[in-house]
Amino acid sequence: AGRLDRALAAFRAGEPVLVHDFDDREGETDIVYPASAVTPEAVAHLRNDAGGLICVAVSDAVADAVGLPFLEAQIDHPAAASHDLGYDDRSSFSLPVNHRDTFTGITDDDRARTITELASMASTVDAGVDYDADDFAAEFRAPGHVHVLRGAPGGLDDRLGHTELGLAMAAETEQAPAVVVCEMLDDETGRALSTDAAREYARRNGLPYVEGEDLVAALR
Ligand code: 5RP
Ligand code: CA
Ligand code: ZN
Repeated sequence: AGRLDRALAAFRAGEPVLVHDFDDREGETDIVYPASAVTPEAVAHLRNDAGGLICVAVSDAVADAVGLPFLEAQIDHPAAASHDLGYDDRSSFSLPVNHRDTFTGITDDDRARTITELASMASTVDAGVDYDADDFAAEFRAPGHVHVLRGAPGGLDDRLGHTELGLAMAAETEQAPAVVVCEMLDDETGRALSTDAAREYARRNGLPYVEGEDLVAALR
């Protein structure tokens, strides 16, 4: 099998995959996990080895069913009036949340709990079970410490972020539409980890590395 097939097989098995978007977009490599597979050890791996923001992307359909909005449309402050991102038309941020059975929400145990409960919520909604904003509110509180991202309605036809790339991998591998993404940063420079360094990290740790353009070619 090719590199992409091996990456998808690993992802299907709950293993992380490194995904570089595009040189003319963010130019970032995210570590991406199926949200259902995230353990406290995986959260530690993300904060120590990736170092970016730990987020859970859910599909537009799931977000819609439980009333999770695009945050930029909700914030009533002039800072949210214009979204000049530079690399995309819009941000995928929705609400940051914590599961209600967490304490501070930030520990590895707490974040893993919030993340796996988000996966279970997404799986429930995806299966067509009746589950609305009030059901979500009974399980999660906002604000919290895990950033929910909302996928674009048209997926990869609509937006080419790690949000949509990760969700496309979940759909292809028949998993719940909930994936964890976290940017890899360079400890020396504080900038986005270079693709050479990300590939070297992948090789050293036996993790698959894929390019956004390969995912788009295979999955769009
Ligand atoms: C959240 C982000 C990351 O870039 C993440 O990859 C999701 O964003 P996008 O879909 O725009 O790539 O900004 O930390
Ligand atoms: Ca970003
Ligand atoms: Zn990104």
